Amino acid sequence: MDSNRKKYTEANRQAWNEVTPYHQKANKERLYHLFAQPGYSCLDATITKKLREWGIAGKDVAQLGCNNGKELISLKNLGAARAVGFDISDSAIDEARSLARHAGVESELVRTDIYEIPKEYYNRFDLLYISIGVLPWMPNLIDFFQVAARILRAGGAIFIYEMHPFMQMVDEQRKEAPVQLQESYFRKEPWVDTDSLDYYSHTEYQASPKYNFPYTVSGLLMALISNGIRIEYMEELEDDISCCFTEIEKLKPGLPMSFILIGKKTE
Ligand SMILES: C[S@@+](CC[C@H](N)C(=O)[O-])C[C@H]1O[C@@H](n2cnc3c(N)ncnc32)[C@H](O)[C@@H]1O
Repeated sequence: MDSNRKKYTEANRQAWNEVTPYHQKANKERLYHLFAQPGYSCLDATITKKLREWGIAGKDVAQLGCNNGKELISLKNLGAARAVGFDISDSAIDEARSLARHAGVESELVRTDIYEIPKEYYNRFDLLYISIGVLPWMPNLIDFFQVAARILRAGGAIFIYEMHPFMQMVDEQRKEAPVQLQESYFRKEPWVDTDSLDYYSHTEYQASPKYNFPYTVSGLLMALISNGIRIEYMEELEDDISCCFTEIEKLKPGLPMSFILIGKKTE
């Protein structure tokens, strides 16, 4: 599994390196303008409320899959003591360093495959933040949460704010109702494609192959539980935090489009 896993994660590294310039072109000016405001946070009201309720001030925080660092910088601006972002993409980490410098926010940005986070980070964090669009890039959730549990201190928390895996079944190309289910919820094999990853400005370019991995709610819960993470809170939401399904989000009653999950390392 390890060599396969590396094959997948290195392919995905390449894909994220390719798309960063397109994302920068679409976003850089706006982000630099927003983060010039002292204390700025891009995190939405739902997750900000939960983070504040749990307590973020003074915590040592890490983000797994931090991309351009906008959420990590926001976590620091919400009061985190230490902010460390991990991401496999060279260009995303370069961009995150540059945004943090521009915002004048102290942070540590580490280019690494999450599965290979160095031992120096073990038992160092009070809170791990994992947000939209990270879990589907992980070939193996049990191993992923093993690393997450290792870098947390005992009593530390994992915060997940992700798209609901139910949405993996929905045809993303079909923007309007009625909703079409095109995939089995229980699909096992990865999706592989060479489509553009530019979900901001939708520039078409020939991407190198990238791999996404289906998962289920029970698969996620068992990956956490089997790594000594106790589930403290879970809420399924009708909100499309991906912006891929804005029309479907208007349907009532709504679909499970996203979720918040908080787990705690017990020992
Ligand atoms: C959709 S983006 C996350 C976006 C983030 N929630 C945000 O709003 O900025 C997914 C990120 O996961 C990273 N990633 C994918 N596979 C990874 C791996 N094996 N190790 C570390 N980072 C990985 C990608 O490089 C990418 O930056």
